[in-house]
Amino acid sequence: MNLLIINGPNLNLVGRREPGIYGDKSIDSYLESLYHRYSEISFEYFQSNHEGSIIDKLHEVGFNTGLTGIILNAGAYTHTSLAIADAIAAINVPVVEVHISNVHAREEIRHHSMISPVCRGVIAGFGLDSYRLAVESFIK
Ligand code: DQA
Repeated sequence: MNLLIINGPNLNLVGRREPGIYGDKSIDSYLESLYHRYSEISFEYFQSNHEGSIIDKLHEVGFNTGLTGIILNAGAYTHTSLAIADAIAAINVPVVEVHISNVHAREEIRHHSMISPVCRGVIAGFGLDSYRLAVESFIK
């Protein structure tokens, strides 16, 4: 199984960014432990703060590349980007939307996701463990 994890804007700062919301563990050390735990899975990781780069990546991997699935935390683009939603709808590889925080328990602007309707499912609110739960969804 091959999984690609895509993190959008500001998620490179997890561990330093608003630790009361996102925790104090760095995203890099979390992902290292995730890869170790699921050593039978081949992981790729991509992070970008730029909407177009995320779309380019989805296009690059989304057709007949042998990729099993994509775990996408689009950050704030979740709430704004019709363009990312269109890219997810265009590709053949299933995408699971994840959020570290429970977006529904936060400001109203975070309650709506542009991308949920075109994703296989949504996992939110379990801290960094949201990524692991998304991995499990592909195993099941
Ligand atoms: C987030 C939630 C978004 O509302 C926010 O803009 C982020 C992170 C999360 O993982 O909880 O950057 O996607």
